[in-house]
Amino acid sequence: MGFDGINAGLAAGFLPFRGSWMLDVVFLAMFAIVPTLAVSIALVKRGQYRVHRTIQLVTAAILLVAVIAFEVDMRFFTDWRELAEPSPWFSICHTLLYVHLAFAIPTPILWAVIIWGALRHFDDKFQAPGYRERHRALGWAGMLAMMGTAVTGIVFYIVAFVL
Ligand code: HEM
Repeated sequence: MGFDGINAGLAAGFLPFRGSWMLDVVFLAMFAIVPTLAVSIALVKRGQYRVHRTIQLVTAAILLVAVIAFEVDMRFFTDWRELAEPSPWFSICHTLLYVHLAFAIPTPILWAVIIWGALRHFDDKFQAPGYRERHRALGWAGMLAMMGTAVTGIVFYIVAFVL
């Protein structure tokens, strides 16, 4: 698909940078994810288990839909290399993308494991003898992996499409 110079037509994003519409959506979502997860942890530490569960499940569902839409965009509609080419740092974009993918690919798998385990083990009073410690360890790994995904994604977007 031709882009008429840099970024035109359906592919054009709404931010004043070179990202496509979906790239812009995911870029903003990456900023939202860090405070959302921070709130979720703060609440679970105060015993607000139900809100924590809701935040985690809703976040996971939204991210799943966004990632699928994003993949469709990248595979069929948007050539990110073409949009990133004007960047003075274009030569390091591939490396930055691989660093981002090193977080972005394992994270959904880890989240699926965490959610599956939590839903299976915690009862309706959020009791789970013997599983709490495991969920905490997995949960912290999942939080850090998602924050790593967000930070490396933001860096990639800025270097590729803003500069
Ligand atoms: C990807 C999804 C999730 C992540 C990343 C996550 C993360 C975490 C983390 C980091 C903690 C420990 C906080 C601390 O240090 O005290 C925690 C605690 C907890 N989470 Fe999740 N969680 C997720 C999903 C869920 C779900 C779906 C449920 C409910 C079914 C749940 C129920 C709980 C409960 C009850 C605790 C408190 C455990 C305790 O008493 O120490 N979590 N979670």
